[in-house]
Amino acid sequence: MTHPDIKEIILTEETLRARVAELGADISRDYAGETVLLVAVLRGAALFIADLAREITTPVELDFMAVSSYGSSTKSSGVVRILKDLDEMIEGRNVIVVEDILDTGLTLKYLLKNLASRKPKTLEVITLLNKEGKQRVPISCKYTGFLIPDEFVVGYGLDYAEKYRNLPYIGILKPSVYAD
Ligand code: IMP
Ligand code: MG
Repeated sequence: MTHPDIKEIILTEETLRARVAELGADISRDYAGETVLLVAVLRGAALFIADLAREITTPVELDFMAVSSYGSSTKSSGVVRILKDLDEMIEGRNVIVVEDILDTGLTLKYLLKNLASRKPKTLEVITLLNKEGKQRVPISCKYTGFLIPDEFVVGYGLDYAEKYRNLPYIGILKPSVYAD
């Protein structure tokens, strides 16, 4: 049953599951014989990393970072602050940053620069969603789940004002939800 605040489901639970399995297979092939450290950017990527990790057959380790980008809840400001850093050292390791959505790219650009300075063996990005044509800075993203139109989406980890993260699908909010 669709949540009453959702105008349209753009990615169903089945579609998400199938694509996450493909991404896991790609990573398993590319990193065969190696250990991968998945680094999720909290909180949006929490659901994605949990499902992705279970689709990878090569050894996987998990770590988490939390950042805040100042700005309103629907717009990115590009000013990033690390709220929670990694627990692990990443020097010499195969790091894949797991993102929920690539919008302007400002958050990720900052993070990648920061992580690269810690000298990982490899550093790549996987994003579940990529808003086509929205990037203000170039990000080389090795794995992309879906290209989506420039609409504000929620579900499967993505929120609006901390709501809707638990929806099993990804959908577009009704405009009336923003009006307050
Ligand atoms: P960026 O720095 O503009 O790439 O912003 C990335 C972050 O903004 C994501 O990790 C999300 O937390 C948030 N964000 C961007 N677009 C959306 C959206 O459509 N729905 C929910 N969160 C979004
Ligand atoms: Mg986020």
